[in-house]
Amino acid sequence: MDNKRIIIAIDGHSSCGKSTFAKAIAARLGYIFIDTGAMYRAVTLYAAENGAIVNGIVDEERVEAMLQDINIDFRFNPQRGASDIYVNGDLVEGKIRGIEVSNSVSAVSSIGAVRQKLVAMQQQMGRNGGVVMDGRDIGTVVFPNAELKIYMTADAMVRAERRYKELTAKGDSVTIEQIYENVVSRDKADMSRAISPLRKADDAVVLDNSHMSVEEQMSWFDEQYQRVING
Ligand code: DC
Repeated sequence: MDNKRIIIAIDGHSSCGKSTFAKAIAARLGYIFIDTGAMYRAVTLYAAENGAIVNGIVDEERVEAMLQDINIDFRFNPQRGASDIYVNGDLVEGKIRGIEVSNSVSAVSSIGAVRQKLVAMQQQMGRNGGVVMDGRDIGTVVFPNAELKIYMTADAMVRAERRYKELTAKGDSVTIEQIYENVVSRDKADMSRAISPLRKADDAVVLDNSHMSVEEQMSWFDEQYQRVING
């Protein structure tokens, strides 16, 4: 039974370690890891670099018109043990996590045509199973039949502190207040948008990792995985 390759959907709030967790699970199971937030970030970066976001204001019509020019793909990077994201052949992995993209990504991801395009790509990528996909609508919209759905959350200040450490380690000059503000406003935007808002799927299991180590999260995951696999 253990070789059944399932779909694992991980949704939840911003900056609660979904990608780190998803990546570790994928490595453990030999599954593909897909960071869908990176796809929304890549579209946002492209829109910003091509004049569709000016002074933080997103021109939805222009973004929609641009979608046909945006070709996203993932290529495995053995050094990171995960895939890097490319837009029209350019590696953008290092550019999509900054505060500017973070501040506009919720607005871009609320555009129906953007979601339509990215959801279709995600469904295609996960169709054969053996994937861990993280995002906001994976268990509710992209793969409502996923065998294992996890809804992750953590205290907002704990999340802000984690993201702050990550960004300052990379040399970004940001303040903890800016990050906290971004985390809270993205939660609000993600949960209140009209199309595919972030919400826990009825059959998702909740993981609040505010005070959990990575090891504790992994042993929690093992229990959930065994429950599903042993049916
Ligand atoms: O996971 P992340 O913080 O990198 O995601 C960036 C943004 O993309 C997030 O604020 C909301 C949006 N997003 C989404 O709307 N749907 C997804 N499946 C993934 C991300």
